[in-house]
Amino acid sequence: MERKAVIIGATSGIGRALAEELHSRGYALGLTGRRVERLEELKNSLGKNVKIQFMDVTKTRDAIDQLEMLIRELKHMDIIVLNAGVSNFRGSTMWKTEKRVIDVNIRGFTALANYSFDYFEKKGNGHIVGISSVAGHFGYGLSAAYNASKAFVSTYLQGYRQRANHSKADIAVTDIIPGFVESEMTDGKPGMFWVAGKDKAARQIANAIESRKNRAYITKRWWLVGWVLKLVPNWVLDRI
Ligand SMILES: NC(=O)c1ccc[n+]([C@@H]2O[C@H](COP(=O)([O-])OP(=O)(O)OC[C@H]3O[C@@H](n4cnc5c(N)ncnc54)[C@H](OP(=O)(O)O)[C@@H]3O)[C@@H](O)[C@H]2O)c1
Repeated sequence: MERKAVIIGATSGIGRALAEELHSRGYALGLTGRRVERLEELKNSLGKNVKIQFMDVTKTRDAIDQLEMLIRELKHMDIIVLNAGVSNFRGSTMWKTEKRVIDVNIRGFTALANYSFDYFEKKGNGHIVGISSVAGHFGYGLSAAYNASKAFVSTYLQGYRQRANHSKADIAVTDIIPGFVESEMTDGKPGMFWVAGKDKAARQIANAIESRKNRAYITKRWWLVGWVLKLVPNWVLDRI
């Protein structure tokens, strides 16, 4: 049976590249974002088996209703990729900026992950994929809210993987942990290294989804950075 994947935040960067990759692998897609003209353009360029839906994840009640509408159009959902995210890496620690990060990366993410788990439990199977970050492994003064939000995503997904292991339903939970990937979010960001092209990142994410991995570093060599970061003592990290 045709697999149906919903991507939250498919209008640019990793989300758009993943939409193209999964479509080329034969998935039917439900794509969301706020920039509807981009969704329409993507739908036209991909061709058949694509449904689109406006969604601002910070309006959580509306976002859940919009996800339900999209699922009805698709008939069902097998995979949800919670990709929508914003960063404050440009160094703003103003409350307005940090609040936006929390609203998108934590509130929006949690509302849709929570809904999806219940949906998959009722359906009997499914797959939740969250896009976290290596940034979630440590605190960083120039983007404190962003790094903390990604720590939330990874820890939340681990909790839901435990829930899935206690559930009668067959639910996979995958934590995608990218290093640097070219995208609008990282455009102009100084000091980046090992920057992956978004198509390469999308291929590796799609492979991780199809292997039902618990967690996957993107690209793979970022595993090394993740491992080193876990060994670095806090007194060193406190002085970065
Ligand atoms: N690029 C990297 O190096 C990197 C590294 C680690 C993790 N990540 C994570 O990867 C994910 C994708 O980021 P990206 O690099 O591809 O950045 P991007 O090109 O800026 O894409 C962000 C996506 O999130 C959506 N989005 C933002 N605010 C939203 C809102 N309020 N409601 C709904 N959708 C919203 C955007 O759609 P609209 O603006 O159309 O709504 C867009 O599709 C993020 O979670 C990011 O934290 C990226």
